[in-house]
Amino acid sequence: MPHGAYRVDRSYQWNYAHAPSLPRVRRLPSGAGGRLFGHMLNSSLGIAAGPLLNSKWVEGYARLGFDVLTYATVRSAFRPAHALPNIRHVENREQAAVIARRPAGNGDTTIAVSLGEPSMEPDVWRKDVRRARERIGPGQILIVSVIGTPAPDGDAETLIADFARCAAWAAESGADAVEVHLATQDPFVEQAQMIYENVPLAARILHRVRTTIGVPVLAKLGAFRTPRLLHDTATRLAPWTNGFVLVHSISRRVLDDKGTPAFEGTGRERADVVGAQTFTVASRQVEEMLAWRKAGAWDRAILAVGGICTVERAQDVLREGADAALVATAALFDPLFAARFRQTRPAEVA
Ligand SMILES: Cc1cc2nc3c(=O)[nH]c(=O)nc-3n(C[C@H](O)[C@H](O)[C@H](O)COP(=O)(O)O)c2cc1C
Repeated sequence: MPHGAYRVDRSYQWNYAHAPSLPRVRRLPSGAGGRLFGHMLNSSLGIAAGPLLNSKWVEGYARLGFDVLTYATVRSAFRPAHALPNIRHVENREQAAVIARRPAGNGDTTIAVSLGEPSMEPDVWRKDVRRARERIGPGQILIVSVIGTPAPDGDAETLIADFARCAAWAAESGADAVEVHLATQDPFVEQAQMIYENVPLAARILHRVRTTIGVPVLAKLGAFRTPRLLHDTATRLAPWTNGFVLVHSISRRVLDDKGTPAFEGTGRERADVVGAQTFTVASRQVEEMLAWRKAGAWDRAILAVGGICTVERAQDVLREGADAALVATAALFDPLFAARFRQTRPAEVA
């Protein structure tokens, strides 16, 4: 598969309409088991929000042995994706992410993603989530990622209500859990700040979602500037969530080798840098979160994400105590990851 499952040379709409023909696995090893929110799992490996654009993608990856399946982020209204390019291979350097001359292979893929947080119309995704739920197998769960859409001149209350409306639709459509995407720009400030960094706003969103729906609620978080901020935020949000999913991405400027922005257009200077080279930063934050939970502050699920591109890394985060290991980049560039993960028992990785 020279292009990866997602064709980076094609539009988001094209990829939505063309689920990949994934390699077949004749005999998928049974997983080591797992448990999340009372569901028995074949394994604790899954796919983070993004690669699974719709039920066809969900079905294809479920068959390949990924067991925690996150339906890509949906909204209360249609939003188109940014123009191409949307995904570029990068090197994560000190000052910025820089376009890579040659894409790295062998579990070392690092990419910058600038898709613009697109979504289909609610009528489309609500039906399709139902279909996705029907297509996954026993021992697998479907999480649906939702995001609020700021209204022009809208206030915080309008945004909070919109998050809750999407969460309610996702739950009605059969989601086993709903992930609230908080690693997105806070629309009420000028500077680059994510909603999870505005703790009072994040807490109000989660509170509303948690008191609106009956299924477990997950909070998707990004990287924190200091361990103290991670601790304080998790403590403030824990009462209103059943789990944390982190680290969303490293938000960075992306440049070509001449120093020109790699994605053209307003609001695209920064992009989500994800994949192999983000593991050091992401796994450190996951460890912080695990340590904080161990200290007895609260007992919530922790789903590790960010740079998990090798089976060893997945086993590592699970051994440390994460409730699931989620991949996005690896799912796209290495669809047989789950089959290899299932083949390797934890003891063999020591
Ligand atoms: C193509 C692509 C699309 C993504 N879209 C979303 C999205 O819609 N919502 C979201 O919360 N995260 C999205 N992400 C981020 C992933 O959920 C994940 O946090 C990130 O890629 C880090 O994991 P990785 O290093 O395994 O790729 C996307 C990632 C990729 C690669």
